[in-house]
Amino acid sequence: MIKNKQVRKAIIPAAGLGTRFLPATKAQPKEMLPIVDKPAIQYIIEEAVQSGIEEILIITGRNKRAIEDHFDRAFELEMTLKAQGKYDLLGLIEEIPNVAIHYIRQKEAKGLGHAVLCAKQFVGNEPFAVMLGDDIIDAEVPCLKQLMQVYEDCPGTILGVQEVAQEKVSSYGVVKPKVVKERLWQAVDLVEKPTLEEAPSRLAVLGRYIIEPEIFALLETTEPGRGGEIQLTDALRKLAQVQPVYAYEFEGRRYDVGDKQGYLEATVEFALKRPDLREGFLRYLKKNWGELVNGGEK
Ligand code: UTP
Repeated sequence: MIKNKQVRKAIIPAAGLGTRFLPATKAQPKEMLPIVDKPAIQYIIEEAVQSGIEEILIITGRNKRAIEDHFDRAFELEMTLKAQGKYDLLGLIEEIPNVAIHYIRQKEAKGLGHAVLCAKQFVGNEPFAVMLGDDIIDAEVPCLKQLMQVYEDCPGTILGVQEVAQEKVSSYGVVKPKVVKERLWQAVDLVEKPTLEEAPSRLAVLGRYIIEPEIFALLETTEPGRGGEIQLTDALRKLAQVQPVYAYEFEGRRYDVGDKQGYLEATVEFALKRPDLREGFLRYLKKNWGELVNGGEK
């Protein structure tokens, strides 16, 4: 029985190996790669806080200590900046959200489903959000908040989706949709990384979820699926057979920053949106554009 509870907790799985971003991710988490001057995971935490999340659990793995250090106080640095009167730089450190963040280690990267299962104790018996650090969403209303607004009217599991190009469907979990209303579908089935022929639509699940706690019992019995990993999509499929699972097409520009092309797009577009960087960066691009696109040929 689904009760319309408030979504207070968010899980950020960050224990993946980040192989698409090697060699940068050999010894550091991909979630710490900066988009302009902020680590990717800080954008995610900011979105969570702006959406009203009160407690966050980051699922970490090997080489993830930098994440814990980033969200901890750095007394020595703060005192040095204060002593030097560099209050503008101090401000940048103080902007890092001060929210309750907990950590748990996923000892082996056995898949996203397994990472979410590691949060069972933390979540307890309430709906929770899952936010993937690979997906940075630039939106007027924070993406998770959009999902929460849908959840108020339609309690159940809500998957954040957007249409992707046909040739990209095989990179995502894809929804078999049944229309509910504008931008909202019931996910009657889901397929993880389908081939073009298998894909039931072009609606791909893009890194934001509100999930009912009944998922944990299903994850516990989910066998390794595609890629030998315990897939969250497989457990969501089972959930969709017993509870409403919705797919909501959120508004906003989404960047896949776990992929080199997506990372570069995010870096350029975020830099151009920054008042302190825009003018100089644009001047540089305009001046050098011809040379840049001709691969260095004059
Ligand atoms: P991805 O498949 O995109 O992450 O998982 P990955 O495995 O790190 O990346 P590539 O494909 O090798 O480059 C989606 C999210 O799930 C987390 C990842 O950290 C990422 O945020 N994840 C994945 C875990 O926390 N544990 C896992 O076992 C697998």
